[in-house]
Amino acid sequence: MRRISRSEKGTLQIAKEVAQKLTSGWLVLLSGELGAGKTCFVKGLADGLGIKEHVTSPTFTIVNQYQGDVTLFHVDLYRLSCFPEEDISLDEMLKEGIVAVEWWERDKEFFSNYRPRVEVHMKVLDENSREIELKWIE
Ligand SMILES: Nc1ncnc2c1ncn2[C@@H]1O[C@H](COP(=O)(O)OP(=O)(O)O)[C@@H](O)[C@H]1O
Ligand SMILES: [Mg+2]
Repeated sequence: MRRISRSEKGTLQIAKEVAQKLTSGWLVLLSGELGAGKTCFVKGLADGLGIKEHVTSPTFTIVNQYQGDVTLFHVDLYRLSCFPEEDISLDEMLKEGIVAVEWWERDKEFFSNYRPRVEVHMKVLDENSREIELKWIE
């Protein structure tokens, strides 16, 4: 499914709609260049999951954890070459909640073994417009 977002608000809204379809155990895999809006999308997810806390990019930590109606784990692999299995367990996180991963393509094979998952690919069209491709794999 392809959606066009014409503003940051639009992306927040689309992500909020996606959040309504997720339950504990879902993996949300985000790709797209720097500035495409991946973190913005995770903010919308958090909003949709009833998280009140301010969501910030976990670029300098491995994972951020938020509590809402369900737990949301936010991982960013930008500075890594693969998922750091020696530090965190994806299986454990998925048992507890929903896991959103930015730059998942750093370890494509690892994540491709997991389902259910939704792959979210974001493309910059112009300054304020983004194409958001959603691939649901159940
Ligand atoms: N339609 C849009 N959706 C999301 N972000 C947008 C949009 N239009 C402009 N932006 C801007 O693009 C930037 C996206 O940043 P961010 O979400 O951190 O990207 P990423 O995590 O992919 O690097 C923000 O500065 C945001 O205001
Ligand atoms: Mg980001």
